[in-house]
Amino acid sequence: MVEAKSSSKEVISNNNFFHPLDPLSFDEINKTTKIVKNNANLGKELLFETIMLIEPPKEEVLAFKIGDQIIRKALVVVLNFKEEKIYELDINLNYEKIERCEHIPNVQTAFIFGDLEMDFNEWESKMKHDPKVVEALKNRGIENPDLLQIDPWPISNFGNENEEGKRLAIGRCWIRREPGDNAYARPIEGLSIILDLNKNEVVEIQDFGEISIPPNDGNYSQKYQKKFRTDLKPLEIIQPEGPSFEVKGNNVKWQKWNMRIGFTKREGLVIHNIGYEDEGKLRPIIYRASLSEMIVPYGDPTNDHYKKQVFDAGEVGIGKCANSLELGCDCLGEIRYFDGVLFDIRGEASVIKNAICMHEEDYGILWKHTDTRTGEVETRRSRRLVVSSIATVGNYEYGFFWYFYQDGGIEYEIKLTGIVNSAGVAPGIKPKHGTLVAPQVVAHNHQHFFNVRLDMMVDGINNSAYEIDTILDPKSEENKHGNAFSTKKTLIENESDGVRIVDPFSARSWAITNNSKKNYMGEPVSYKIFPGENVLPFSHKDSVVNKRAGFMNGHLWVTPFNDKELYASGDYPQQHPGGDGLPKWIKEKRDIKDKDLIVWYTLGHTHIPRLEDWPVMPVAYTGFSIKPSGFFDKNPALDVPPSANDKCNSHCKCC
Ligand code: CO
Repeated sequence: MVEAKSSSKEVISNNNFFHPLDPLSFDEINKTTKIVKNNANLGKELLFETIMLIEPPKEEVLAFKIGDQIIRKALVVVLNFKEEKIYELDINLNYEKIERCEHIPNVQTAFIFGDLEMDFNEWESKMKHDPKVVEALKNRGIENPDLLQIDPWPISNFGNENEEGKRLAIGRCWIRREPGDNAYARPIEGLSIILDLNKNEVVEIQDFGEISIPPNDGNYSQKYQKKFRTDLKPLEIIQPEGPSFEVKGNNVKWQKWNMRIGFTKREGLVIHNIGYEDEGKLRPIIYRASLSEMIVPYGDPTNDHYKKQVFDAGEVGIGKCANSLELGCDCLGEIRYFDGVLFDIRGEASVIKNAICMHEEDYGILWKHTDTRTGEVETRRSRRLVVSSIATVGNYEYGFFWYFYQDGGIEYEIKLTGIVNSAGVAPGIKPKHGTLVAPQVVAHNHQHFFNVRLDMMVDGINNSAYEIDTILDPKSEENKHGNAFSTKKTLIENESDGVRIVDPFSARSWAITNNSKKNYMGEPVSYKIFPGENVLPFSHKDSVVNKRAGFMNGHLWVTPFNDKELYASGDYPQQHPGGDGLPKWIKEKRDIKDKDLIVWYTLGHTHIPRLEDWPVMPVAYTGFSIKPSGFFDKNPALDVPPSANDKCNSHCKCC
């Protein structure tokens, strides 16, 4: 479909299953960097914030057949940290050409620490030994800066003039009692270090008043655990014939499901081309699914804790923070891993080994019925395909899990674990906006908001979105007995009407419908979004966080497809004053009826810390589901075979 047949061969690796949506390879990343460094003329002091695939237009991707030639393009965001300028570039890898190079004023990149010679650890060490920091520590009786841990936090944007145009972070401080213990047990309350990330220096020490360091350890690692329980017997997952999925390149086929696995520095796991095979035909459902943004607003007004509001995707990078997963620890059974190919700040390709884990899980009963007259029992066991990735963002861990079920259902689950962010209080103080988890250690109330971008493609590109409420029918001649209830279906006609919130009392769901495709009963086919746990933000509408993360104020947003709209709070949330992203885009009031739709689902999880969350948090779960609703003509899992164990099913005595 693209006529260039010459030089493009070399970037198309020896992988026979190469596809236009495959993330940039190791070689492609290095090649991109080389083109930028050699040809862009942006100076030597370049640090790389983004190198990612520019996905080809949807029509090209959908028409692609293995063997077709493709043009590979990369989006690059670089920072010249000396000149303090940010540039966006589009690189054509086939022709080794810069197609666009644009200076982007008045924005800041996601976090980059260090420079051409200095990585994060060296950078942190430099900040720890800054004379201003050493003195501030001494004033608090802390002699050894090596035991200091500085966590750089986004500074947000509270309109302070002296912060304007500078790339800054707040260094929040903890002190270890000994190397290797849990630093978060000992917050140095009231000490904040303002860091200039372009100059790599301490700008200012902000001291909100000394509070003594909490006295107790908060260790969780095995070396500190005195005794382990002894009554656990081995539990093994055995798949003697291997897993039931088939992987070719980045394409996954599992029973009737088909999808492609992708990965970016910002979003982490991306899943493309999700479809389900029905009567021999692969029916598309979602073109692209990803975490578009997330934010964690904290609810304490004291000192500078009110500034704690982190966009973990846009300001840090969920892919960048991905763990290398270990068999038997993070995932159990027959696992297929995918590596995450990323880059360092100098633009050199790097690999996060085993960044994505894929495996099958037994999931209890899929369906069952006992015919009480004949005694016939039919039981099917459910199995799900799990595609997951785990990111460590500072003190916290987030697991992002996509589940695919045999009945055509999809579920997205986030697992929250790690260490709650800790602050210090004076002895005897009982804080109002958090929980004391140890003497003098408070974990502040906070929320986690995630926005998932779903480029829907239910049986074709053009879809419509409907809000479905269950309503109590009014008393009438028809509803004499007052028991009648029905559903009300409302078309969301334009994007400014598409900001919806959950309503558990009407069992609200949203249908994404293809009006041109009908099911067996003559109704248009749909997939429905069913909310899980959800909340709204506990922040005033005119608060800084509410403006910066406007996507928190609606659980479902629907916009028409635009390849420039990928992130719910805009491309550059770092130090952004707010208003970008979804709230801005929907002001255009674009028509969304029978269009190429993007559905943005926001899920909020309120975390009032418990004592049991300390010193390390047992996993908390949140998520939502996307299920067929009139998409199939009947239960699509009737053909799941009975288990080999014959006792699960007994035949009727009548035949
Ligand atoms: Co939390």
